[in-house]
Amino acid sequence: CSYFFDFLISHAKVYGFVFPSSEIYGGLNAIYDYGPHGVELKNNIKEFWWKSMTRLHENIVGVDSSILMHSDVWHASGHIDKFHELLIDHKDSKKRYRPEILIQEYVKKNFLNDPKKKEEILSRLSQSLEKKDLGDIKVLIDELCICDPVFKTKNWTEIRNFNMMFKIRNEKDLYLRPETAQGVFSNFHNIVKSSRMKIPFGIAQIGKSFRNEIIARRFLFRMREFEQMEMQFFILPEEEIKWYEYWKKTRLKWHLELNLGDKTYYQLCDHDHLSHYASAGSDIKFHFPFGFQEIEGIHSRRDFDLKNHEFFSKKKIRIFEWKKNYIPYVIETSLGLDRLFLAIFSSSLKKEKLKNGKIRIVLKLPYFLSPIKAAIFPLVRKDGLPEIARRIFHDMKIRHRLVYDEKESIGKLYRRQDAIGTPFCFTVDYDTIKTNTVTMRNRDSMEQKRIHIKEISKIIKEETGF
Ligand code: GAP
Repeated sequence: CSYFFDFLISHAKVYGFVFPSSEIYGGLNAIYDYGPHGVELKNNIKEFWWKSMTRLHENIVGVDSSILMHSDVWHASGHIDKFHELLIDHKDSKKRYRPEILIQEYVKKNFLNDPKKKEEILSRLSQSLEKKDLGDIKVLIDELCICDPVFKTKNWTEIRNFNMMFKIRNEKDLYLRPETAQGVFSNFHNIVKSSRMKIPFGIAQIGKSFRNEIIARRFLFRMREFEQMEMQFFILPEEEIKWYEYWKKTRLKWHLELNLGDKTYYQLCDHDHLSHYASAGSDIKFHFPFGFQEIEGIHSRRDFDLKNHEFFSKKKIRIFEWKKNYIPYVIETSLGLDRLFLAIFSSSLKKEKLKNGKIRIVLKLPYFLSPIKAAIFPLVRKDGLPEIARRIFHDMKIRHRLVYDEKESIGKLYRRQDAIGTPFCFTVDYDTIKTNTVTMRNRDSMEQKRIHIKEISKIIKEETGF
Protein backbone atom coordinates (compact mmCIF):
# COMPACT_ATOMS: atom_id res chain seq x y z
CA CYS A 1 0.00 0.00 0.00
CA SER A 2 2.72 2.46 0.99
CA TYR A 3 4.76 1.61 -2.13
CA PHE A 4 1.68 2.07 -4.34
CA PHE A 5 0.81 5.33 -2.59
CA ASP A 6 4.32 6.77 -3.11
CA PHE A 7 4.12 5.71 -6.75
CA LEU A 8 0.68 7.38 -7.08
CA ILE A 9 1.92 10.68 -5.59
CA SER A 10 4.92 10.66 -7.91
CA HIS A 11 2.76 9.82 -10.96
CA ALA A 12 0.38 12.67 -10.09
CA LYS A 13 3.31 15.08 -10.03
CA VAL A 14 5.23 13.85 -13.09
CA TYR A 15 2.11 13.87 -15.31
CA GLY A 16 0.82 17.26 -14.20
CA PHE A 17 -2.09 16.26 -11.97
CA VAL A 18 -1.09 17.37 -8.46
CA PHE A 19 1.93 19.32 -7.16
CA PRO A 20 2.92 20.09 -3.56
CA SER A 21 2.03 23.73 -2.98
CA SER A 22 4.93 26.23 -2.80
CA GLU A 23 7.33 23.40 -3.54
CA ILE A 24 10.22 25.68 -4.49
CA TYR A 25 10.08 27.04 -0.92
CA GLY A 26 9.98 23.61 0.70
CA GLY A 27 6.21 23.07 0.41
CA LEU A 28 3.37 23.50 2.89
CA ASN A 29 2.00 20.64 4.95
CA ALA A 30 -1.24 19.17 3.50
CA ILE A 31 -1.73 21.85 0.85
CA TYR A 32 -1.62 20.91 -2.83
CA ASP A 33 -1.98 22.55 -6.25
CA TYR A 34 -3.64 20.96 -9.26
CA GLY A 35 -1.57 20.94 -12.48
CA PRO A 36 -2.73 21.16 -16.12
CA HIS A 37 -4.24 17.65 -16.23
CA GLY A 38 -5.40 17.75 -12.61
CA VAL A 39 -7.47 20.87 -13.12
CA GLU A 40 -9.19 19.34 -16.19
CA LEU A 41 -9.99 16.14 -14.29
CA LYS A 42 -11.21 18.13 -11.29
CA ASN A 43 -13.44 20.32 -13.48
CA ASN A 44 -14.95 17.22 -15.11
CA ILE A 45 -15.73 15.75 -11.67
CA LYS A 46 -17.33 19.03 -10.59
CA GLU A 47 -19.40 19.17 -13.77
CA PHE A 48 -20.66 15.62 -13.27
CA TRP A 49 -21.73 16.39 -9.70
CA TRP A 50 -23.19 19.79 -10.55
CA LYS A 51 -25.26 18.46 -13.43
CA SER A 52 -26.52 15.48 -11.48
CA MET A 53 -27.66 17.84 -8.70
CA THR A 54 -29.02 20.86 -10.54
CA ARG A 55 -30.18 19.33 -13.84
CA LEU A 56 -31.49 15.94 -12.81
CA HIS A 57 -33.36 17.51 -9.89
CA GLU A 58 -35.55 20.38 -11.02
CA ASN A 59 -35.96 21.38 -7.37
CA ILE A 60 -32.24 21.96 -6.70
CA VAL A 61 -30.70 25.36 -7.42
CA GLY A 62 -27.10 26.54 -7.06
CA VAL A 63 -25.28 29.23 -5.12
CA ASP A 64 -21.69 30.44 -4.89
CA SER A 65 -21.24 32.15 -1.54
CA SER A 66 -18.13 33.89 -0.24
CA ILE A 67 -15.45 32.20 1.82
CA LEU A 68 -15.34 35.03 4.36
CA MET A 69 -18.52 35.64 6.29
CA HIS A 70 -19.66 37.78 9.23
CA SER A 71 -18.28 36.33 12.45
CA ASP A 72 -21.81 35.94 13.87
CA VAL A 73 -22.38 33.23 11.24
CA TRP A 74 -19.84 31.10 13.12
CA HIS A 75 -21.33 31.89 16.53
CA ALA A 76 -24.77 30.89 15.24
CA SER A 77 -23.50 27.75 13.51
CA GLY A 78 -21.75 26.58 16.70
CA HIS A 79 -18.36 26.39 15.03
CA ILE A 80 -16.71 28.86 17.40
CA ASP A 81 -17.82 26.95 20.49
CA LYS A 82 -17.92 23.39 19.25
CA PHE A 83 -15.80 22.81 16.15
CA HIS A 84 -12.99 21.30 18.20
CA GLU A 85 -10.65 18.38 18.07
CA LEU A 86 -8.87 17.06 21.13
CA LEU A 87 -5.16 17.75 21.15
CA ILE A 88 -2.23 16.48 23.16
CA ASP A 89 1.43 17.41 22.65
CA HIS A 90 4.44 15.20 23.16
CA LYS A 91 6.78 17.40 25.14
CA ASP A 92 10.05 15.91 23.84
CA SER A 93 9.29 15.62 20.15
CA LYS A 94 6.98 18.67 20.16
CA LYS A 95 4.64 16.65 17.96
CA ARG A 96 0.87 17.11 18.15
CA TYR A 97 -1.49 14.15 18.41
CA ARG A 98 -5.20 13.51 18.61
CA PRO A 99 -5.41 11.49 21.84
CA GLU A 100 -8.26 9.28 20.65
CA ILE A 101 -6.26 8.23 17.58
CA LEU A 102 -3.18 7.68 19.71
CA ILE A 103 -5.18 5.33 21.94
CA GLN A 104 -6.93 3.56 19.04
CA GLU A 105 -3.67 2.91 17.19
CA TYR A 106 -1.89 1.80 20.34
CA VAL A 107 -4.66 -0.61 21.31
CA LYS A 108 -4.92 -2.05 17.80
CA LYS A 109 -1.19 -2.73 17.73
CA ASN A 110 -0.71 -4.01 21.28
CA PHE A 111 -3.89 -5.92 22.12
CA LEU A 112 -4.06 -8.09 19.03
CA ASN A 113 -4.20 -11.23 21.16
CA ASP A 114 -6.52 -9.82 23.78
CA PRO A 115 -9.73 -8.81 21.96
CA LYS A 116 -11.64 -8.48 25.24
CA LYS A 117 -9.21 -5.90 26.61
CA LYS A 118 -9.15 -4.13 23.24
CA GLU A 119 -12.94 -3.93 23.20
CA GLU A 120 -13.03 -2.68 26.80
CA ILE A 121 -10.59 0.18 26.15
CA LEU A 122 -12.23 1.24 22.89
CA SER A 123 -15.66 1.26 24.51
CA ARG A 124 -14.34 3.40 27.43
CA LEU A 125 -12.79 5.74 24.89
CA SER A 126 -16.05 5.97 22.99
CA GLN A 127 -18.00 6.81 26.17
CA SER A 128 -15.49 9.48 27.19
CA LEU A 129 -15.67 11.07 23.75
CA GLU A 130 -19.46 11.02 23.92
CA LYS A 131 -19.40 12.74 27.31
CA LYS A 132 -16.50 14.96 26.16
CA ASP A 133 -14.72 13.82 29.33
CA LEU A 134 -11.12 14.93 28.83
CA GLY A 135 -10.15 13.74 32.33
CA ASP A 136 -11.15 10.16 31.60
CA ILE A 137 -9.23 10.11 28.33
CA LYS A 138 -6.17 11.30 30.24
CA VAL A 139 -6.67 8.50 32.78
CA LEU A 140 -6.87 6.05 29.88
CA ILE A 141 -3.58 7.33 28.47
CA ASP A 142 -2.00 7.11 31.95
CA GLU A 143 -3.14 3.48 32.27
CA LEU A 144 -1.67 2.59 28.90
CA CYS A 145 1.58 4.31 29.91
CA ILE A 146 2.00 1.85 32.74
CA CYS A 147 2.05 -0.98 30.20
CA ASP A 148 4.42 0.77 27.86
CA PRO A 149 7.38 2.89 28.95
CA VAL A 150 7.56 4.57 25.50
CA PHE A 151 4.16 6.04 26.24
CA LYS A 152 5.51 7.79 29.37
CA THR A 153 3.00 10.10 31.09
CA LYS A 154 5.33 12.86 31.99
CA ASN A 155 6.12 13.47 28.36
CA TRP A 156 2.56 14.44 27.50
CA THR A 157 0.88 17.80 27.97
CA GLU A 158 -2.68 18.17 29.23
CA ILE A 159 -5.38 17.27 26.71
CA ARG A 160 -7.08 20.38 25.40
CA ASN A 161 -9.68 21.44 22.87
CA PHE A 162 -8.33 22.87 19.65
CA ASN A 163 -10.58 24.90 17.35
CA MET A 164 -10.14 23.79 13.74
CA MET A 165 -11.08 27.07 12.11
CA PHE A 166 -8.36 29.28 10.64
CA LYS A 167 -8.64 32.75 12.09
CA ILE A 168 -7.35 35.51 9.84
CA ARG A 169 -4.54 37.36 11.52
CA ASN A 170 -4.97 41.12 12.01
CA GLU A 171 -8.68 40.84 11.21
CA LYS A 172 -10.89 40.82 14.28
CA ASP A 173 -13.04 37.68 14.36
CA LEU A 174 -12.73 36.81 10.70
CA TYR A 175 -12.47 33.11 9.83
CA LEU A 176 -11.90 31.02 6.71
CA ARG A 177 -15.03 28.89 6.39
CA PRO A 178 -14.66 25.26 7.55
CA GLU A 179 -17.72 24.12 5.52
CA THR A 180 -19.58 25.66 2.57
CA ALA A 181 -22.99 24.95 4.15
CA GLN A 182 -23.20 28.19 6.15
CA GLY A 183 -23.18 30.21 2.91
CA VAL A 184 -26.36 28.34 1.99
CA PHE A 185 -28.08 28.84 5.36
CA SER A 186 -27.23 32.53 5.54
CA ASN A 187 -28.60 33.02 1.98
CA PHE A 188 -31.68 30.85 2.56
CA HIS A 189 -34.12 33.77 2.69
CA ASN A 190 -32.73 35.42 -0.48
CA ILE A 191 -32.75 32.14 -2.40
CA VAL A 192 -36.33 31.25 -1.42
CA LYS A 193 -37.54 34.68 -2.50
CA SER A 194 -35.58 34.93 -5.74
CA SER A 195 -35.94 31.36 -7.00
CA ARG A 196 -39.58 30.84 -5.91
CA MET A 197 -38.64 27.36 -4.69
CA LYS A 198 -41.10 25.53 -2.48
CA ILE A 199 -40.37 22.86 0.14
CA PRO A 200 -38.96 20.29 -0.58
CA PHE A 201 -36.05 21.85 -2.47
CA GLY A 202 -32.27 21.90 -2.35
CA ILE A 203 -29.35 24.33 -2.71
CA ALA A 204 -26.08 23.03 -4.16
CA GLN A 205 -22.67 24.61 -3.86
CA ILE A 206 -19.06 23.82 -4.76
CA GLY A 207 -16.36 25.72 -2.96
CA LYS A 208 -13.22 25.85 -0.85
CA SER A 209 -13.22 25.04 2.83
CA PHE A 210 -10.37 25.28 5.32
CA ARG A 211 -9.60 23.29 8.45
CA ASN A 212 -6.56 23.42 10.67
CA GLU A 213 -6.32 19.62 10.80
CA ILE A 214 -4.07 18.31 13.58
CA ILE A 215 -3.09 15.26 11.61
CA ALA A 216 -3.25 16.21 7.94
CA ARG A 217 -1.99 13.31 5.88
CA ARG A 218 -2.53 10.78 3.10
CA PHE A 219 -2.04 13.21 0.25
CA LEU A 220 -5.41 14.63 -0.87
CA PHE A 221 -7.36 12.70 1.75
CA ARG A 222 -6.97 15.12 4.64
CA MET A 223 -5.91 18.59 3.61
CA ARG A 224 -5.98 21.98 5.29
CA GLU A 225 -7.39 23.71 2.20
CA PHE A 226 -9.86 21.59 0.25
CA GLU A 227 -13.01 21.75 -1.81
CA GLN A 228 -16.47 20.53 -0.90
CA MET A 229 -19.50 19.76 -3.06
CA GLU A 230 -22.43 20.15 -0.71
CA MET A 231 -26.18 20.16 -1.08
CA GLN A 232 -28.64 21.17 1.61
CA PHE A 233 -32.16 19.85 1.03
CA PHE A 234 -34.94 21.70 2.88
CA ILE A 235 -37.93 19.62 3.95
CA LEU A 236 -41.02 19.44 6.12
CA PRO A 237 -39.96 18.32 9.63
CA GLU A 238 -42.27 15.30 9.53
CA GLU A 239 -40.53 14.03 6.38
CA GLU A 240 -37.05 13.85 7.94
CA ILE A 241 -36.67 10.08 7.82
CA LYS A 242 -38.08 9.73 4.32
CA TRP A 243 -35.61 12.25 2.84
CA TYR A 244 -32.66 11.08 4.94
CA GLU A 245 -33.13 7.56 3.58
CA TYR A 246 -33.73 8.91 0.05
CA TRP A 247 -30.46 10.87 -0.03
CA LYS A 248 -28.41 8.02 1.45
CA LYS A 249 -29.67 5.74 -1.31
CA THR A 250 -29.36 8.34 -4.08
CA ARG A 251 -25.81 9.32 -3.18
CA LEU A 252 -24.60 5.72 -2.98
CA LYS A 253 -26.13 5.06 -6.39
CA TRP A 254 -24.34 8.15 -7.78
CA HIS A 255 -20.98 6.82 -6.55
CA LEU A 256 -21.65 3.43 -8.11
CA GLU A 257 -22.40 5.13 -11.44
CA LEU A 258 -18.83 6.44 -11.48
CA ASN A 259 -17.81 2.82 -11.97
CA LEU A 260 -14.71 2.95 -9.77
CA GLY A 261 -15.57 -0.45 -8.43
CA ASP A 262 -18.56 -2.61 -7.62
CA LYS A 263 -20.65 -2.54 -4.43
CA THR A 264 -17.82 -4.16 -2.44
CA TYR A 265 -15.81 -0.91 -2.81
CA TYR A 266 -18.37 1.02 -0.78
CA GLN A 267 -19.79 0.92 2.73
CA LEU A 268 -22.64 2.94 4.18
CA CYS A 269 -22.08 3.38 7.91
CA ASP A 270 -23.91 5.29 10.60
CA HIS A 271 -21.75 7.82 12.47
CA ASP A 272 -20.46 6.82 15.89
CA HIS A 273 -19.92 10.43 16.89
CA LEU A 274 -22.25 13.05 15.49
CA SER A 275 -21.08 16.55 14.59
CA HIS A 276 -22.48 19.27 16.84
CA TYR A 277 -25.08 20.28 14.21
CA ALA A 278 -26.34 16.80 13.27
CA SER A 279 -29.11 14.66 14.72
CA ALA A 280 -28.29 11.73 12.41
CA GLY A 281 -25.34 11.06 10.14
CA SER A 282 -24.03 8.40 7.77
CA ASP A 283 -20.77 8.06 5.89
CA ILE A 284 -20.32 6.63 2.45
CA LYS A 285 -16.93 4.94 2.74
CA PHE A 286 -14.75 4.06 -0.23
CA HIS A 287 -12.04 1.44 -0.44
CA PHE A 288 -8.96 3.70 -0.71
CA PRO A 289 -5.47 2.14 -1.01
CA PHE A 290 -5.19 2.59 2.79
CA GLY A 291 -8.55 0.96 3.55
CA PHE A 292 -12.21 1.96 3.86
CA GLN A 293 -12.52 5.67 4.66
CA GLU A 294 -15.22 8.32 4.48
CA ILE A 295 -15.71 9.96 1.12
CA GLU A 296 -19.10 11.61 1.66
CA GLY A 297 -21.28 12.44 4.65
CA ILE A 298 -25.08 12.53 4.70
CA HIS A 299 -26.49 14.37 7.71
CA SER A 300 -29.82 15.34 9.10
CA ARG A 301 -29.24 18.85 10.51
CA ARG A 302 -32.92 19.33 11.35
CA ASP A 303 -33.54 23.05 12.02
CA PHE A 304 -30.28 23.51 13.95
CA ASP A 305 -28.73 26.04 11.58
CA LEU A 306 -31.74 28.05 10.40
CA LYS A 307 -33.09 28.33 13.95
CA ASN A 308 -29.77 29.60 15.26
CA HIS A 309 -29.37 32.05 12.38
CA GLU A 310 -32.86 33.37 13.09
CA PHE A 311 -31.92 33.84 16.74
CA PHE A 312 -28.53 35.46 16.14
CA SER A 313 -29.55 37.67 13.18
CA LYS A 314 -32.96 38.56 14.67
CA LYS A 315 -34.34 38.25 11.12
CA LYS A 316 -37.32 36.07 10.27
CA ILE A 317 -36.08 32.99 8.42
CA ARG A 318 -39.11 30.72 8.93
CA ILE A 319 -41.42 30.30 5.99
CA PHE A 320 -45.16 30.19 5.53
CA GLU A 321 -46.06 27.24 3.36
CA TRP A 322 -48.27 24.18 3.47
CA LYS A 323 -50.63 26.27 5.62
CA LYS A 324 -48.16 26.67 8.44
CA ASN A 325 -45.39 28.86 9.67
CA TYR A 326 -42.25 26.81 10.31
CA ILE A 327 -38.49 26.43 10.04
CA PRO A 328 -37.73 23.64 7.55
CA TYR A 329 -35.52 20.71 8.42
CA VAL A 330 -32.36 20.05 6.42
CA ILE A 331 -30.84 16.89 4.99
CA GLU A 332 -27.31 17.53 3.80
CA THR A 333 -25.07 15.63 1.40
CA SER A 334 -21.42 16.64 1.71
CA LEU A 335 -18.75 15.30 -0.63
CA GLY A 336 -15.05 16.17 -0.58
CA LEU A 337 -13.95 16.96 -4.12
CA ASP A 338 -10.28 16.24 -3.43
CA ARG A 339 -11.16 12.98 -1.70
CA LEU A 340 -13.22 11.95 -4.70
CA PHE A 341 -10.33 12.96 -6.98
CA LEU A 342 -8.06 10.69 -4.92
CA ALA A 343 -10.59 7.83 -5.08
CA ILE A 344 -10.85 8.17 -8.87
CA PHE A 345 -7.11 8.55 -9.37
CA SER A 346 -6.13 5.66 -7.10
CA SER A 347 -8.66 3.21 -8.51
CA SER A 348 -7.74 4.10 -12.10
CA LEU A 349 -3.96 3.90 -11.85
CA LYS A 350 -2.77 0.48 -13.06
CA LYS A 351 0.50 -1.24 -13.83
CA GLU A 352 -0.09 -3.81 -16.58
CA LYS A 353 2.15 -6.56 -17.82
CA LEU A 354 2.02 -6.72 -21.62
CA LYS A 355 2.33 -9.82 -23.83
CA ASN A 356 5.91 -8.86 -24.69
CA GLY A 357 6.76 -8.87 -20.97
CA LYS A 358 7.02 -5.07 -20.73
CA ILE A 359 5.12 -3.04 -18.14
CA ARG A 360 2.82 -0.20 -19.06
CA ILE A 361 1.38 2.39 -16.68
CA VAL A 362 -2.15 3.28 -17.57
CA LEU A 363 -4.68 5.59 -15.94
CA LYS A 364 -8.00 3.89 -16.65
CA LEU A 365 -10.19 6.87 -15.84
CA PRO A 366 -13.87 6.71 -16.78
CA TYR A 367 -13.80 8.19 -20.31
CA PHE A 368 -16.08 11.11 -19.47
CA LEU A 369 -13.71 12.23 -16.71
CA SER A 370 -10.45 12.02 -18.68
CA PRO A 371 -8.64 15.36 -18.84
CA ILE A 372 -7.94 14.85 -22.55
CA LYS A 373 -10.44 12.97 -24.67
CA ALA A 374 -8.22 12.20 -27.67
CA ALA A 375 -4.70 12.75 -28.98
CA ILE A 376 -3.80 13.33 -32.65
CA PHE A 377 -0.34 12.29 -33.90
CA PRO A 378 1.49 12.13 -37.23
CA LEU A 379 3.29 8.80 -37.67
CA VAL A 380 6.44 10.65 -38.74
CA ARG A 381 7.45 14.28 -38.83
CA LYS A 382 7.75 14.52 -42.61
CA ASP A 383 6.01 14.05 -45.98
CA GLY A 384 3.06 16.28 -45.06
CA LEU A 385 1.74 14.02 -42.25
CA PRO A 386 2.12 16.66 -39.47
CA GLU A 387 0.16 19.16 -41.58
CA ILE A 388 -2.78 16.74 -42.00
CA ALA A 389 -2.73 15.82 -38.30
CA ARG A 390 -2.65 19.49 -37.27
CA ARG A 391 -5.57 20.25 -39.58
CA ILE A 392 -7.67 17.49 -37.95
CA PHE A 393 -6.71 18.85 -34.52
CA HIS A 394 -7.62 22.46 -35.36
CA ASP A 395 -10.91 21.45 -36.98
CA MET A 396 -12.08 19.67 -33.83
CA LYS A 397 -10.37 21.44 -30.92
CA ILE A 398 -13.37 23.65 -30.15
CA ARG A 399 -15.66 20.61 -29.84
CA HIS A 400 -13.44 18.27 -27.80
CA ARG A 401 -10.53 18.53 -25.35
CA LEU A 402 -7.71 17.30 -27.61
CA VAL A 403 -3.92 17.40 -27.84
CA TYR A 404 -1.62 17.35 -30.82
CA ASP A 405 1.79 15.79 -30.25
CA GLU A 406 4.72 14.90 -32.48
CA LYS A 407 7.64 15.17 -30.05
CA GLU A 408 8.52 11.48 -29.72
CA SER A 409 8.21 8.14 -31.45
CA ILE A 410 4.67 6.79 -31.81
CA GLY A 411 5.17 4.12 -29.11
CA LYS A 412 6.30 6.74 -26.57
CA LEU A 413 3.42 9.04 -27.53
CA TYR A 414 0.94 6.21 -26.83
CA ARG A 415 2.56 5.49 -23.43
CA ARG A 416 2.34 9.14 -22.42
CA GLN A 417 -1.37 9.32 -23.26
CA ASP A 418 -1.95 6.02 -21.39
CA ALA A 419 -0.36 7.57 -18.30
CA ILE A 420 -2.62 10.64 -18.54
CA GLY A 421 -5.74 8.55 -19.14
CA THR A 422 -6.59 9.66 -22.72
CA PRO A 423 -9.17 7.17 -24.07
CA PHE A 424 -8.29 7.47 -27.80
CA CYS A 425 -5.28 8.22 -30.01
CA PHE A 426 -5.66 8.92 -33.73
CA THR A 427 -2.59 8.55 -35.92
CA VAL A 428 -2.13 10.03 -39.37
CA ASP A 429 0.03 7.78 -41.61
CA TYR A 430 0.80 7.33 -45.29
CA ASP A 431 -2.57 5.64 -45.95
CA THR A 432 -4.30 8.80 -44.70
CA ILE A 433 -3.05 10.62 -47.79
CA LYS A 434 -4.67 8.04 -50.08
CA THR A 435 -7.82 7.02 -48.16
CA ASN A 436 -8.61 9.85 -45.71
CA THR A 437 -8.49 7.28 -42.89
CA VAL A 438 -6.50 7.24 -39.63
CA THR A 439 -5.71 4.53 -37.08
CA MET A 440 -7.69 4.73 -33.88
CA ARG A 441 -6.11 3.19 -30.76
CA ASN A 442 -8.11 2.43 -27.64
CA ARG A 443 -6.41 3.07 -24.29
CA ASP A 444 -7.75 0.02 -22.47
CA SER A 445 -7.67 -2.74 -25.10
CA MET A 446 -4.73 -1.15 -27.01
CA GLU A 447 -6.49 -2.40 -30.13
CA GLN A 448 -6.17 -0.40 -33.31
CA LYS A 449 -8.54 -0.03 -36.24
CA ARG A 450 -8.86 2.23 -39.27
CA ILE A 451 -11.62 4.80 -39.39
CA HIS A 452 -12.50 7.66 -41.73
CA ILE A 453 -11.43 11.15 -40.62
CA LYS A 454 -15.09 12.21 -40.74
CA GLU A 455 -15.93 9.66 -38.01
CA ILE A 456 -13.41 10.93 -35.43
CA SER A 457 -15.59 13.60 -33.85
CA LYS A 458 -18.68 11.39 -33.71
CA ILE A 459 -16.75 8.57 -32.02
CA ILE A 460 -15.23 10.91 -29.41
CA LYS A 461 -18.65 12.39 -28.63
CA GLU A 462 -20.37 9.00 -28.43
CA GLU A 463 -17.68 7.32 -26.35
CA THR A 464 -16.74 10.12 -23.95
CA GLY A 465 -19.88 12.23 -23.86
CA PHE A 466 -17.83 15.37 -24.69
N1 GAP B 1 -21.09 20.41 5.99
C1 GAP B 1 -20.84 19.16 6.57
C2 GAP B 1 -19.45 18.77 6.57
O1 GAP B 1 -18.58 19.58 6.28
P1 GAP B 1 -17.84 16.77 7.10
O2 GAP B 1 -18.15 15.32 7.33
O3 GAP B 1 -17.03 17.49 8.12
O4 GAP B 1 -19.26 17.47 6.90
C3 GAP B 1 -17.78 16.48 4.52
O5 GAP B 1 -17.14 16.92 5.68
C4 GAP B 1 -16.80 15.91 3.52
O6 GAP B 1 -15.77 16.87 3.26
C5 GAP B 1 -16.06 14.67 4.01
O7 GAP B 1 -16.81 13.50 3.77
C6 GAP B 1 -14.80 14.71 3.17
O8 GAP B 1 -15.04 14.12 1.90
C7 GAP B 1 -14.56 16.19 2.99
N2 GAP B 1 -13.52 16.65 3.94
C8 GAP B 1 -13.68 16.99 5.23
N3 GAP B 1 -12.51 17.37 5.78
C9 GAP B 1 -11.58 17.25 4.79
C10 GAP B 1 -10.17 17.50 4.72
N4 GAP B 1 -9.49 17.95 5.78
N5 GAP B 1 -9.53 17.27 3.55
C11 GAP B 1 -10.21 16.81 2.46
N6 GAP B 1 -11.53 16.58 2.47
C12 GAP B 1 -12.22 16.80 3.62
